[in-house]
Amino acid sequence: MKRAWWKESVVYQVYPRSFCDMSGDGIGDLNGITSKLDYLKELGVDVIWLSPIYKSPNDDMGYDISDYEDIMTEFGTMEDFDRMLKAAHERGLKIVMDLVVNHTSDEHAWFIESRISRDNPKRDYYIWRDPKDGHEPNNWGSHFSGPAWQFDEKTGQYYLHLFSKKQPDLNWDNPKVRDEVFGMMNRWCEKGIDGFRMDVISLISKPEGLPDMSLDADGFGNRDMVANGPHVHEYLKEMRSRVLSKYDLMTVGETAGVTLDEAKKYASSEGTELNMVFQFEHVGLDGNKELGVKWSTRKLPLVPLKKNLTKWQNGLDQVAWNSLYFCNHDQPRIVSRLGDDSEQYRERSAKCIATCLHMMQGTPYVYQGEELGMTNYPWKDVSQFRDIQMINAMDQLPGQVGILKEELFPMVACKGRDNARTPMQWDDSENAGFTRGTPWIVVNPNYTKVNAKEQLSREDSVFHYYQKLIALRHSSDLIVYGHYQLLLEDDPDLYVYKRTLKAGEIEGGTGRDGRAADGPKQDRELIVVCNLSGNERTFELPEEFKDGKVLIQNIEAHNISDGRLAPYEAYVVER
Ligand code: NOJ
Repeated sequence: MKRAWWKESVVYQVYPRSFCDMSGDGIGDLNGITSKLDYLKELGVDVIWLSPIYKSPNDDMGYDISDYEDIMTEFGTMEDFDRMLKAAHERGLKIVMDLVVNHTSDEHAWFIESRISRDNPKRDYYIWRDPKDGHEPNNWGSHFSGPAWQFDEKTGQYYLHLFSKKQPDLNWDNPKVRDEVFGMMNRWCEKGIDGFRMDVISLISKPEGLPDMSLDADGFGNRDMVANGPHVHEYLKEMRSRVLSKYDLMTVGETAGVTLDEAKKYASSEGTELNMVFQFEHVGLDGNKELGVKWSTRKLPLVPLKKNLTKWQNGLDQVAWNSLYFCNHDQPRIVSRLGDDSEQYRERSAKCIATCLHMMQGTPYVYQGEELGMTNYPWKDVSQFRDIQMINAMDQLPGQVGILKEELFPMVACKGRDNARTPMQWDDSENAGFTRGTPWIVVNPNYTKVNAKEQLSREDSVFHYYQKLIALRHSSDLIVYGHYQLLLEDDPDLYVYKRTLKAGEIEGGTGRDGRAADGPKQDRELIVVCNLSGNERTFELPEEFKDGKVLIQNIEAHNISDGRLAPYEAYVVER
């Protein structure tokens, strides 16, 4: 295995709209991010991934871009961006940009032209089709409810939109589209950014002939079958040769519908396409199979979760690279989803979950507020929702799948994306210190207790625990590169695994500190023990670890040799 700085780094995702508002308009901004760089430095992360900051009418909160080379008005100016980038680099922090090129906004100049006439030179930048028997050209559904096609009166054709109707899909089969995208990427790289997170990049190449897909429970064609299309790897290789290979970047593909075999191509260790991918299987395990949608009130089931993460840990070992995540701007808060967000166990379970994830092989991602153990919001009413996916689901699903609104509401409230998008909780002043204006979305009322200021002042906080996990990873090749082995596969409460690394296994490459040092001089091994349940349990440490060193534990000074595990207890021992 080879070293790489992006393998040894920890990434922090900022959702700019909800991070920190300096201007006072109730919406986070770039100057707000700049003002919090020292906070991120203190946490110890290496890379900041910014959700989109480009010009956008915000139908999908910035994932609908109307100009790739300008900044969203609410977020500031290009000068603010340049200042932020410089300030980040001065602190040794890298900036990774969101690249949203499966689709643009319908307000992008390309689409405005494209829809003018059937023979417009930009017509073929998007995917236009004639109606079929007076209906949509095929049975594909949008990820935001309803069909993936919108009829355009003016020219009598439908255009494809896998997301909202204000997000028309680009036609990547058109070489001019690829020229435009690669040109734009090169210009951002010349500015000095450090990488890209590529939004739904697995969807850019559409299946030949746009065929109907087998039907899902919601009456639309299976969305995963639209992923990993015939030319996706060819286009990413072209992107590598025309853009990525010219700079020292970190690249991560958001790959909806990715399988293990596909991931080995996207994120191959040969470096032909991207560095790593986000897979979705583990965050789909609490979905609603009966209705064929993600909305449910189920918790993430532990045994399937272990099996799934184990499949990815072992499946990509040596041949590709995992990204490690539970949280992002599309996912509910993990402490509510897998842990226990009650006052009694919120902190301990947040630390337990973090231990479980951060000791795996791959690059960990921390989503803003995760390092504080921020929770889901106690939604009362649809009028509080801001996310198009949640609003459309409440509006359209009851009619589509025959469910009452009252039944659906708790499910959308539980799995909805706005749970992640409530403002970052900085302190216990009004609006959690996020803004002096009126916040664009509700602030979680628990900010008076759960906030960064309080946690920075207390040594045993979730913040300081994350800080320690990150520092441990930075000091240990075993944690970054070691092989993974699951123990107690069918235990319903415990997630226990080992990591091993042999002397001489790391050969070459350059790490995050710029040194090309060899790996450990002797074989090394650690064990991660997490009780991801509210039950008291026992666990006998394997003999070989009994004299080992406790690297971290979430119940301070608990003597682990007594074999007892308290609810949500976690520890790591290296021998
Ligand atoms: C995935 C992004 O993470 C999500 O927020 C967005 O709505 C869709 N892609 C469409 O861009």
